[in-house]
Amino acid sequence: MEVDIFSQQLIAWYEDDHRDLPWRNVNDPYKIWVSEIILQQTRVVQGLGYYLRFIEKFPDIISLANASEVEVLQIWQGLGYYSRARNMHTTAKDILNNYHGIFPEKYEAIIKLKGIGKYTAAAISSIAFNLPYPAIDGNVLRVVSRVMGIFEDISSTEAYKIIEKACQKWIKGVPAGTFNQAMMELGATCCTPKQSHCEICPVADRCYAFAYEAVEKLPIIIKKIKIKTRYFHYFLLFQNDNIIIEQRNRNDIWKKLFQFPLIETSEKCEKPDSKLLSQLGICHPEKLVFIKEIVHQLTHQRLIIRFYRIDEPVELQEGQFFVKINDIHEYPFPIALQIKKNDIILPFH
Ligand code: ADE
Repeated sequence: MEVDIFSQQLIAWYEDDHRDLPWRNVNDPYKIWVSEIILQQTRVVQGLGYYLRFIEKFPDIISLANASEVEVLQIWQGLGYYSRARNMHTTAKDILNNYHGIFPEKYEAIIKLKGIGKYTAAAISSIAFNLPYPAIDGNVLRVVSRVMGIFEDISSTEAYKIIEKACQKWIKGVPAGTFNQAMMELGATCCTPKQSHCEICPVADRCYAFAYEAVEKLPIIIKKIKIKTRYFHYFLLFQNDNIIIEQRNRNDIWKKLFQFPLIETSEKCEKPDSKLLSQLGICHPEKLVFIKEIVHQLTHQRLIIRFYRIDEPVELQEGQFFVKINDIHEYPFPIALQIKKNDIILPFH
């Protein structure tokens, strides 16, 4: 089969010099799956430690399937986008029950697994099973839009189809996993969003943007995301060495993680009104002590989070329970809610 010269140049460059990452040179689909899910919304430097800890704690599908959900979220704590961890747990159980604990080898079966979309299915199929499916993520979209000179909005279906067709042609006749990883590597280390390094690019001589000085103009990104601002008020309700917490069960950010009692208001305010406070059993709003305010930015949401404490007994509401302050680390909390001991103690000394 005739191999496209683009793929030859790309793969020769990758094989000559690429970052040595722990999920490379393995073909265990489980490990590849874990690495791809972690790297979906996370940079390699940040994801690396999480990957190593995850694999140490859950070395195979069976250990992940048999873990509790809290154990899985615990390992994920701080990575964000926790539905990734919940879906992995569900999928591990699915594979244990329906595939005898063995990762399915066909693309059509892989893509049906919960939490696995087109990109991840292609990455696993190609890297673990050498199936010729191009894995197209934001990095690959950027690289190809520059190479081919695509002036369509990069998030449009039209742009995706052109890029997918090109990648399907390039991946033919070469080791599929190596091709996909080389494309990722090119996007991560060379054809970066800003200040790309065309001087070391293996395909610069075949690149539209390099030839026509359009590297900085491409890809065309039309922003459609509307950021919503939310106002969270968290209450640290102590009784001696205990504090009240609850699990977040709504189908929303941080589902299944733990938190302090919360009131969400639709507007910015210094503190929620007494009617709302009474729903948490707080009957003396004047005794609330404000601790601090933080801003936590997520992809589609901006959270303005205010913390307060009150030092008089408050009745437990449904779903709430007391934990010893020293045991609180056993419960996975969103990073935004991990307030330092000093913040808690200071107002009272
Ligand atoms: N980003 C997504 N998948 C990756 C991989 N396998 N290696 C490096 N970066 C990645």
